[in-house]
Amino acid sequence: MNLQKILEKHAFQKDHLIEILIDLQNEKTYKFVTEEEVSLIADALKVPVSHVCGVMSFYTLLSFDERGKYIIQVCKDVPCYLNDDFNVLTTIEKALDISCGDTSKDQFFTLEQTACLGCCDEAPAMRINNKVYTKLTKAKVLRILEEYKEGILC
Ligand code: FES
Repeated sequence: MNLQKILEKHAFQKDHLIEILIDLQNEKTYKFVTEEEVSLIADALKVPVSHVCGVMSFYTLLSFDERGKYIIQVCKDVPCYLNDDFNVLTTIEKALDISCGDTSKDQFFTLEQTACLGCCDEAPAMRINNKVYTKLTKAKVLRILEEYKEGILC
């Protein structure tokens, strides 16, 4: 689906800006939005480019930079922090040999932190693309990563 079709799907509604940006980003393998696309969206929705840029920079789900096929976002808010007795972030950094903010050399994974994912009662939590994983243990995190690598999860 190209940008025009995504805009039509959302009936050019400025209230759907976030959904439009997410749809556009998610149809690309490396999950990013270009500055040119931001300008086109701003024109189509009749909103200032600065408004679209503001949304792009506010939501960690959105990016101007190419990222991995799978974007791992580890929740960094207090309930997850307090329930994280094995350190989710460090476990993933070691398993993938990347640091937070990096993309693996094969562009398979990008590792980021994010604000609350809305499931604090099942902390700690992380999101991979649009799927949220909760009640994480070290073994569960490692199994999930392996299943993505093997194509069992996608
Ligand atoms: S604090 Fe982590 S999901 Fe809410």
